[in-house]
Order: sequence, then C-alpha cells, then structure tokens
Amino acid sequence: MFSLNVSGEKEVERKEISQAVISRLPRYYRYLGELRDDGVERISSQELSELMQSTASQIRQDLNHFGGFGQQGYGYNVEQLYTEIGKILGLDQIHHLVLIGAGNLGQALANYVNFERRGFLIEGIFDQNPALVGRQIRGIKVRPMEELESFIIEHHADIGVLTIPKTAAVAAADRLVRCGIKAIWNFAHVDLKVPPKVQVENVHLSDSLMKLSYNICNYAELHREQTDRAIDP
Ligand code: NAI
Repeated sequence: MFSLNVSGEKEVERKEISQAVISRLPRYYRYLGELRDDGVERISSQELSELMQSTASQIRQDLNHFGGFGQQGYGYNVEQLYTEIGKILGLDQIHHLVLIGAGNLGQALANYVNFERRGFLIEGIFDQNPALVGRQIRGIKVRPMEELESFIIEHHADIGVLTIPKTAAVAAADRLVRCGIKAIWNFAHVDLKVPPKVQVENVHLSDSLMKLSYNICNYAELHREQTDRAIDP
C-alpha cells in the first residue's frame, strides 16, 4: 500500500474507494478526531470497533484502503489515520459555499458554526425575497439572486447549497452549473440533472425519519415473531 515519493517519504497510493466505504469515512473521522483530542496515540481495530459498535474486521477492511497505518501488535496511529482520512475527504482544503434560500432551513444551516471548523465557509447567502435581502445571518449578508453569478466567480465558490422550494431548485441548479460550481448540496425534494463533473449530495431528513419508522415497525414485528416462537410449545 505504500510507495516512496521523490524525497524518499512514504506515500499512500490512492486507489478507487467504494461509495460504501466513503460513506463510513466521516464516522471514522469523527471518532478518530475525538480520540486525538483526548490524547490517544494509537488504537487497535478491536478497541475502535467496541467504541464504534462495529466489527473489527469491517474496520480493518475499510482502513486497509488507506495504507499500512495498522500494524500487528501496535494498532492504528490515531493522528496519522485521522489526517489521511481527512485528506481523502478533502478536509485539508477550504471549501467556499453559497447558500440559496434564506428561509427556515437556510438560516439554520447558516447559523451552524461547525461547518466552518471543518473548512466549509459560507461566503454568501442568496434569496429572491426583497424582505430578506440585506439582512445578516451570523454576519453573512443576504444578497439578491441577481448577484449570484458574479459572486460565485469572484469568491471562487465551489459548493452551492439549495434550501429553496423544489419548484425553484432546478433553475437555481442550472445557474450554479453554468457558472462552474463543482458540487451541489441539495435539500430541495427534487432530483437534479447535472453534468457528471458536478457532484450532487441530496439530503432528505424525512428519508431518515421514514427509515426510522420502518425500523420501529420491523422491530416490533420481529420481536413479536421471536416471542411467539419462544412460547410456542
Ligand atoms: P422557507 O419557505 O422557510 O424558505 C425558502 C426560502 O427560499 C424563502 O426565503 C424564499 O424566499 C426562498 N426562495 C424561494 N424561491 C426562490 C428562488 N427561486 N430563488 C431564491 N430564493 C428563493 O422553507 P424552508 O422550510 O427553509 O425549506 C426550504 C426547502 O428545503 C424546501 O424545499 C423544503 O421542502 C426543503 N426542506 C428539506 C429538508 C430536507 O431534509 N431535505 C428539510 C426541511 C426543508
């Protein structure tokens, strides 16, 4: 998994990583960050699995993608692994965001400071409602939609956040794409059609709630079956 670069330092070879592994990376990153903050230098896959309520083999398999940080009898170097996963997630770079839609959800996102700690800077907020334009949300001015394109270019914005009604989201996404945005964080309940080079991450809190609902129902069902079996002579 290691190669040597021109200065003879070890480098992790980047291979294509499956989306399933990538979707687990933020959780590893979070746990490793907490361990690092607590001064933990190394951890075994077994210890990490107990902490994360996962399995040691899943963790080993996932983390094997990132080179030889795990060593027999030593475990993982927390700092190294944290840094490497951060790089893979692109968290060693600053991302510049523009948020479209300064309503309830847009304001909640803009008020959440932790995104900035991870390098996601909300540079500008846009809304079509004149009553909102000119207001400040956590010190960030709400601007009219007419300024969107020039602002994106001037501030090198790479991520657009859509917190507008679905009827308006497609047109707004088209405008973002036309001015070269690299990614869209889409909260509107509509599937966007964008060129392949533009990354879209859909976030639907209600999907998560529906999954929770399914699990509640399923657990009750399963539990009933198990109880019935146990009392069946
Ligand atoms: P809201 O009505 O409070 O805010 C929407 C804002 O978008 C308003 O300020 C409005 O002036 C602005 N807007 C409307 N059309 C626009 C356009 N063409 N250009 C610029 N700004 C425009 O609504 P809320 O509650 O903030 O929800 C926003 C969107 O997010 C909705 O589509 C809603 O369905 C969705 N949503 C999604 C969630 C998720 O988990 N994905 C959770 C909650 C809301």
